[in-house]
Amino acid sequence: MPIYSDKVMDHFMNPRNVGEIQNADGVGEVGNPVCGDMMTFYIKVKDNRVDDVKFKTFGCGAAIAVSSMVSEMAKGKTLEEVRKITPDMVAKQLEGLPKNKHHCSNLGAQALNKAVDDYLAKQGKGPGVKSRRRQKDEKEATCEEG
Ligand code: FES
Repeated sequence: MPIYSDKVMDHFMNPRNVGEIQNADGVGEVGNPVCGDMMTFYIKVKDNRVDDVKFKTFGCGAAIAVSSMVSEMAKGKTLEEVRKITPDMVAKQLEGLPKNKHHCSNLGAQALNKAVDDYLAKQGKGPGVKSRRRQKDEKEATCEEG
């Protein structure tokens, strides 16, 4: 059985929404200190919805596939809906990730949430209270070998 699903391979080989948005409304960057993978999300917000989203990921294949999938999941969603995107949802949309790659899906949700935080801060709404889930995810975002 292959390690990665066809969906993961598709998003890894042909990642959607790669790049940077100049004058983004929100930017979120997360890094994993253990493996050194870095993920940055850029969002444009219109009428409380993610109007455009792009990302730059320096990392493993799973991290690239996760970034691509997260960007697709976020597009057109309200900020509240974006906040509800969990690493498990991302992994499910990718038709599964190997167990030792699940931490990579944490990075995607975190980077996107940070971009929303940044947007809200720029709006003068403050970074807001981090969701409990995100605090938990940040704690769990350790990068295992594999
Ligand atoms: S995020 Fe570190 S190996 Fe994928």
